[in-house]
Amino acid sequence: MILHVRNKLTLVVVGALFASPNAATCAELTADIVIHGDKPGVAISPTLYGIFYEDINYAGDGGLYAELVQNRSFEYRLLEPGKFSMRNPKTPMPPLFAWLPVERNGMTCQLAVAAEHPLNPRNPNYVTLTLTGDGEAGIANTGYDGGISVQAGAVYDFSLYARRTAGKATPLTVSLETPKGTVLAKTPLAAPAGEWAKQEAVLTVTRTEPKARLVVTTTKPGTVDLDMVSLFPRDTFKGRKNGLRKDLAEAIAAIRPKTLRFPGGCIVHGNGLANAYRWKDTVGDVAERKPNWNRWGYHQSYGLGYFEYMQFAEDIGATPLPILPGGVSCGFSKPFEFSKDNELSDWIQDCVDLVEFANGPVDSTWGKVRANMGHPALFNLKFIGIGNEEHDTPEFRSMFPKFVAAMREKCPEIHIVGTSGLGPKIPLFDLMSATGVDISDEHYYMPPEWFVANHNRFDTVERKAPNVYVGEYASQGNTLFNAVAEAVYLAGIERNSDQVVMTAYAPLLARNGFTQWQKANLIWFDAEHVVKTPNYHVQQLFSSNLGDHYLTNEVTFLAGAAENGKPPVLAVSPTLADGGMLFVKLANPMATPVTARFSLQGLKGIQPQAQLTTLSGDKAAANDQKSPDNIAPVITTFPVGDQFNLTVPPMSVQILRIGATPP
Ligand code: AHR
Repeated sequence: MILHVRNKLTLVVVGALFASPNAATCAELTADIVIHGDKPGVAISPTLYGIFYEDINYAGDGGLYAELVQNRSFEYRLLEPGKFSMRNPKTPMPPLFAWLPVERNGMTCQLAVAAEHPLNPRNPNYVTLTLTGDGEAGIANTGYDGGISVQAGAVYDFSLYARRTAGKATPLTVSLETPKGTVLAKTPLAAPAGEWAKQEAVLTVTRTEPKARLVVTTTKPGTVDLDMVSLFPRDTFKGRKNGLRKDLAEAIAAIRPKTLRFPGGCIVHGNGLANAYRWKDTVGDVAERKPNWNRWGYHQSYGLGYFEYMQFAEDIGATPLPILPGGVSCGFSKPFEFSKDNELSDWIQDCVDLVEFANGPVDSTWGKVRANMGHPALFNLKFIGIGNEEHDTPEFRSMFPKFVAAMREKCPEIHIVGTSGLGPKIPLFDLMSATGVDISDEHYYMPPEWFVANHNRFDTVERKAPNVYVGEYASQGNTLFNAVAEAVYLAGIERNSDQVVMTAYAPLLARNGFTQWQKANLIWFDAEHVVKTPNYHVQQLFSSNLGDHYLTNEVTFLAGAAENGKPPVLAVSPTLADGGMLFVKLANPMATPVTARFSLQGLKGIQPQAQLTTLSGDKAAANDQKSPDNIAPVITTFPVGDQFNLTVPPMSVQILRIGATPP
């Protein structure tokens, strides 16, 4: 029996072939793969592989944002119990969260959060230290996870705002200490005056300590107010001030994403509209940003804001794709809110003004804010997303077209990314089609079997409809099988890249022990470690091995291939770079190896040695801190020609890079 599986035809998925890690391996399969170099299929979208960053799982504060002090401006607050039920933090987070009094040599220190005479109205809270007696006393911050991880020899930039409201002018001291008080770095500061003033210092650490504390003390009684107490490693990504954690940013950059969608996700539309993400609160001097709590139950300093996201996109060669609320709160939250009629214009104006912030001249209102932040050049924003995964309601259906109309009138050059709603049934796609958005964003979190079974989802979609952004997807796990299933799906997307123009896995980041999204995340981390999942490697490999055109191909399984009478599955995606490189991606989700008998037709100058990258292992294998490279790509060379055989291992992703030129 011959099973003939052509690209563009539905592959029927056989559960038994990849059912369990212990499933008996059936006899080896053989497939003939003919690739037609002279029959280009669709052009590959230059923005096909991107990333979706959301501040979930402490991805921002406590994650990518390199600030080491938690709750630096004392703006944490207790959330109303029950009201925002779904994602309230397990631990209450009052304004002194992550802070402790320090009392030494007989002096005592009482801490209280006040708001009477703030640094500025947008940053209302500060801490008052009431110091009594002689000795030394002050305040300590424990960072995230009960301590601040510092490295021997590393340099840290410290700053705070301070003023003394009672007692004799006395210098402050800042130090990094072990939990038992051993000093790791120490430097004197100035004596605070009667008005708020910023002080800065540099700390060089003598010894590595995973749970250090940042300690600020004084030696004379009275009252001292502090705010915006901050500590950054000097060594941030690209050395930027107010920058990003280098190891995490480098791991993201290595994906070579072509788009960066930010900052969510559900945090964009908020639990209620009161905590929806308003980009204007996140730009300008960090001390004047307006912190907020987020949909995932923790707090955001907004030190990582829209400027920093766009700068990060620029630094990694990605196109920024900011998402703005569409006047509706998260449909899963209570209360589920809609903009009042008389406030809708504010939400719409936020979209219009963001374009000016990114692309406006330096003498425009918002272009000036960007320039003052150190980026007079334009960010060259091309896309703007309106709404995130909205529920299908009459209110949204009535409001959304108003956003589109205003953007078309005021910013006709911007491509609008709309929302298809939640899940593969894309309930809002008709609305997106009717309003004529350029691209519609669809999201699905489904089992791996779904991704394999649905790899042909886009083979038959109508080409006149808006293009598609698969802006959030994941196969609900971080095992090798999940990664391979996602690879199978992506191979189907590559052959439909005229219609699916962008993709992004979700979520991107997760801090161990701080997750709201537990089943699957692309990169796991703590203060010292970064773990790249098998899914990460698929993203990285697919993004880095992509031609300019898909090539027509046929995959034909030979006799004996079927198991239990059902057809086998092998995803094949050949793409050719105009400059002369053939990339052949293979994803085998079966427990059976496949002997692939290649015939390369219509290509010139085929180089005899190809580069072969293989990601393979046990179906249930994963990476963790102890074995971060358990599943990692292995690169070898492999002899090729216009005819050659390659054994594709069970449960694997392989990529061939073959030097070859178009006919
Ligand atoms: O990626 C996690 C969440 O999943 C996003 O915030 C939301 O858009 C989706 O429901």
